[in-house]
Parts: sequence; structure tokens; C-alpha cells
Amino acid sequence: MTDYKRHLITAALPYANGPVHIGHLAGVYVPADIYVRYLRMKAEEVLFVCGSDEHGVPITIKAKQEGVTPQDIVDRYHKINKKAFADFGIEFDIYSRTTSETHAKTASDFFRTLYDKGKFIEKTTQQYFDEEAQQFLADRYIIGTCPKCGNDRAYGDQCEACGTSLNATDLLNPKSTLSGSTPTLKDTKHWFLPLDQYEAFLKQWILSENTHWRPNVYGQCKSWIDAGLQPRAVSRDLNWGIPVPVEGADGKVLYVWFDAPIGYISATKEFTPDWEKYWKQKDTRLIHFIGKDNIVFHCIIFPAMLKAEGSYILPENVPSNEFLNLEGEKISTSRNWAVWLHEYLEDFPGKEDVLRYVLCANAPETKDNDFTWKDLQARNNNELVAILGNFVNRSVVLTHKYYGGEVPERGELTAFDNETLNAIAQIKASVESSMEQFRLREALKNAMELARLGNKYLADTEPWALQKSNPERVKTIMNISLQITASLSTLMEPFLPKTVVKLREFLNIEAIDWNTLGNTNLLQTGHKINQAGLLFGKIEDSEMDAQLKKLEQTKLQNAAQQQQVAIQKPAVSYDDFMKMDIRIGTILEAEKVAKTKKLLKLKVDTGVDQRTVVSGIAEYFEPDKIIGKQVTLLLNLEPRNIKGIESKGMILMVEDADGTLKMIGPEVQVKPGSCIS
Ligand code: 2FM
Ligand code: ZN
Repeated sequence: MTDYKRHLITAALPYANGPVHIGHLAGVYVPADIYVRYLRMKAEEVLFVCGSDEHGVPITIKAKQEGVTPQDIVDRYHKINKKAFADFGIEFDIYSRTTSETHAKTASDFFRTLYDKGKFIEKTTQQYFDEEAQQFLADRYIIGTCPKCGNDRAYGDQCEACGTSLNATDLLNPKSTLSGSTPTLKDTKHWFLPLDQYEAFLKQWILSENTHWRPNVYGQCKSWIDAGLQPRAVSRDLNWGIPVPVEGADGKVLYVWFDAPIGYISATKEFTPDWEKYWKQKDTRLIHFIGKDNIVFHCIIFPAMLKAEGSYILPENVPSNEFLNLEGEKISTSRNWAVWLHEYLEDFPGKEDVLRYVLCANAPETKDNDFTWKDLQARNNNELVAILGNFVNRSVVLTHKYYGGEVPERGELTAFDNETLNAIAQIKASVESSMEQFRLREALKNAMELARLGNKYLADTEPWALQKSNPERVKTIMNISLQITASLSTLMEPFLPKTVVKLREFLNIEAIDWNTLGNTNLLQTGHKINQAGLLFGKIEDSEMDAQLKKLEQTKLQNAAQQQQVAIQKPAVSYDDFMKMDIRIGTILEAEKVAKTKKLLKLKVDTGVDQRTVVSGIAEYFEPDKIIGKQVTLLLNLEPRNIKGIESKGMILMVEDADGTLKMIGPEVQVKPGSCIS
């Protein structure tokens, strides 16, 4: 590390198509932030960049589902995620986004440089095309029958029933999800990065020069390289993304995984005009914090891109974590099986550091790990409260009790005193060694050793039993306890940034430089400290039960939904069915019904008339965003009085797997009043 002048730390750019959850925090952002705080405290020059990944097909699909633009989606989640990170003390120097102008130019220029240098191969391949929608179909826009297991809802890139990864052309009976029509195969030209030509370089660079990478990262890279690398397409037929800057490339954009890692460069540019020193000088140490599904992109594809460009440095390390599960099951956004950060904050206000602590103590560094609420409670109550909080509290409270809050003078030291004081430097060294190998859970465990030691010191020396008989000795003991407490305020800072601010308030001190840690006289005799407050509060069983109940509820909802899909309602006669008058209507006006959370009052053009319909959809739709939307309406439902408003008819909705409501409308605009039959 000593040959480097500065560090450039990147954290994977999360997709802006949903909120971040504890899995993201544990896998990438908490470890990256801990490491960055550690470097900053050591007065190293460091830049920490991140931002939203705002391109790619899932964002366009979500936008389509909600009837909004992709830009609306990314604007929404960029804001939410930026705030969530800030709430948990993840302190990026810049949190940018890949829809920024700087990024579009940077990524476009990067592509163009490689293009001009002849680094791409152009290939014409056949891809599915939707004649009705007049567009090429990305893999996720095609469903069909899986040739392996027969699941008839497999996607063009993967069958989620059997996990097989597929090519769209493997699907039997393919259908476009845009129009429902059968797509045709059509020629399309794309640009490919010939990874096979980088095999020798990657072999040398990763397999020989990067043997210090984590075994999971190194192993995954090795198996990719051993399997033989193939050219990868870096463009897509899509209308959301950065246009391919080449003539004749209309309707083609850069593949999201081509532009996203360039987002690190764009973010650096936005942060400083001096960005090149971070990206082009060999004395910069580039580190990518990522999750394991990102390994191939950061260790193979992005380095090959950087190498092809020629003027950039390569990452020195890519500390990738494995996955965090929740109560024994894979975290899943679509099944709502996650702990969402904003919900955690609502339920546990002020306990951001508790989550940081638990996610670090239980980080999935070498294998997938499980987050359980019982473990959070146990670590909070038995470690944060009983060890760290308890020690700090006893030191501060006894100092007030015996000396009115003044640091007492230290007398002659016993061998045990010396041993205890020397342990501070030893623990500092062990934390550093763990940090430098990216073993952050070990680093935290080592740091907690100092709090354990403090407790043991007090328990063994028993100042409360000596205060009458040997007050001079008690002064020394309390002085030493306070030096340990002050050391903890530094040692714990990378892990528990909010807690140490409180701790320093108790001690009435400013932040202490990391390099000063090990000094056994951080608090001068006579220094006045403040009263102790609460560092951590106990978490009760009932709070954990409430969380478990919430998850149980999610399980029930998921099961009910599956059942709903699996179980048919009893048959109805044709005549009964024909009694229903179902039509397309256009929403003309929409407003919230006062004093209700769920209700919207809609004025709908039904072709027959303009009528009022009250609908329980206010939690899912903004009134002003749905004006002009076409919806499906049961016209002849008997009028009902809802909150004093006469509602005539019912808007039909579909409930998504995550419990949100989606409108059902025609593929193309039709005349209001058109019948559904
Ligand atoms: O897996 C993901 O969430 C990606 N959005 C990570 C991108 S990392 C980098 F390349 F931007
Ligand atoms: Zn299958």
C-alpha cells in the first residue's frame, strides 16, 4: 500500500429501479464505507464514488408497467436510494447517475475511442423483432416455453423455474410481451468486444499477478477464463440508453454493462477537473466494492475495456462479497422478501449503527450468510449494549461519581495496567491488518476486543471496592478506563460513525487521528468530561416478534397469491358472463378523496357518459399522472355510495407479485366505450 499516493474506491452503482435493502448494504455499501472511513482517518488521500445505474431493460419494463417514462422511474429511485445511503452514514464523495450529461459524453467518447482504434468487431446476428410494436425485443421482452423444463413463462435469457440460462432463440413458442404476437427473426448489427483476444492479458494479470484477490473472486475469474472467453456484444436494440455514437446505429444504445462501470469515471469527472490523476496515474490504487453477481463485469469485462482504451489503470483489488439471505431465504424484491432500509428506519429510529454493526459482524465475506432478527437482537443486547455501551457507561459514570467529571491523575502502574494499556496499540495493529486484507468482520471483532478488555479491566480491578480503602489506586484505574474509552471513540469510528459522535460528546473531545491511536494519554489529567447518555438501547423480544410477524405476513401473501393463480373459481355460465358490461374508459379527472388514504375519485369517459367512479388505488397512483390513461371498467356494477360519493362502476386492476396494483388497458389507444368481449 505504501507505493500508492491515493485511493479511488468505487461501490457498485445500484440499479435505480427499486429501493435498496439490507442485502445491498451488507454486500457492498457498508464494507466500502467502513474501508473508506478507515483510510480517511489515516489521512490517506481517498475518493469514494458511486451513483445510480439508470439504464437497462428492467427499468424500461417497470416504466411500461406503471405507465410512466423510464426517466420517471430513475428519478424516483435515485432520490430514494441517495437518501437511504446518507441515512446510514454511507459517505460518498459523489453519488452521481448514469443519465447525467457528463456520463453520456464520457461513455459515448469511450466507445468511440475503442471504435476508432478498431477494438470492436461488428457482427450481424438475428434477433427477435416485434412487427406490431416495430421494435427489436430485448431478452426480457420475450417469453416462451423452456426447452429444458417446459415452463411456459420462461424469459428470453433465463428460465426462472429451472434456472437454465437461455438464448431467446432457444424458447419454444416465443411471444413478445409487448404485443403478444409471435416475433420474427430479423438481422441486426452489433458491436462486440472480442474478449477472446484479451485472454492472454487476463490470464497473466489475474491468475499470476492478482493472487491476493479473495478466493471467491479469484476462483470465479479462473473458471471464466478456463472456460474460454467469447466476444461480448456491447450494444443493444433499445430506445433507453446512450446512443451508439456511430453512423447507421439508429435505435441502438450502449449495453448497460458497457456504460455502467464507465459511470465510475464520469462520477470522478463530475467531482473534480483533476479526475485523470485518479484514473490514469499508476500511483492511484483503484478498488471496486461489489456483490458476487458483478464479478465478471469488474474483473474481466471492464478491465478488458480499460486495457483496450490503453490509458487507464486497472483495479488493484475487487473485494466482492457473497449474498446475504433473510431468515434462511434468498432476498427477493418481487416476493417482497427483504428488509427495506426506509422501513427499518421507521421501526428503529436512531439505530442505524446497530444495523451497520450487525451487517458487518455477519458480513457474507466468504460465503452466503443469513440475517435473522434474533441475531440482530442478540448482537445488540449482548455486544453493543452489554459490552461496548456498558463499559463506556461505567467509565463515564464513575468518573463523575468520584471526581465530578474530571480525568484523575494516574499514579504508579502495575504490570496489569501496563499490559492493558499496551493492548491498545496491539489491537490497533490487528484491526489494521484485518482492514488491509478487506477482512472487515474480523476487523470489527478485533476492535470490539478493546471494549471487552475494558470491561475485564474494570471487573478485575474493581475500583468500586477500593474507593474507600485505596483512592489513589482508583484514580489510576479510572484514568486507564478513560484512555480506553477515548481509544474506542477512534477505533469504532469506521464501523459506528454515529455512535462515536455521541461518545466524543460524553468525553468532550474532538475526533482523534487514527495514527494517534495507541497513545495511552489521549485524555489529559484534569480534562472535564460530560455526563453519559445512552449509547445503545436494549431491543425487546416484542420488537423482534413484530418484525417476524411482518415477514410471516409476506409469506402468507405470497402463498395466497400463488394459490390465487393455481386455484380456479367455480365455473359460471356463458349467460352470466355476458351480463357483465366490461369496457375501456379514459380517465378525465382524478383527485384524492379527503380524509382517506386509499381512495381516488375519478371522472371517466365511458363512451356512454362521463361518470364518477371511486377506486381504492390512491396508494399506487398519483392523481395527476393518470389523467388520460385508458382503463378497464365494469360498467354495469350497481352504483355504490362510498364516503358520500356515488360510484358508478368499477375499475379493474391486476395485483402484482409485490402487492402493488397495475392498470389494465388496451395495447393501443381505442375509443372510450369499446367493449371487451
Ligand atoms: O448489479 C447491479 O446492481 C448493477 N447495477 C451494478 C453496476 S456496477 C457498475 F458497473 F456500475
Ligand atoms: Zn426451465
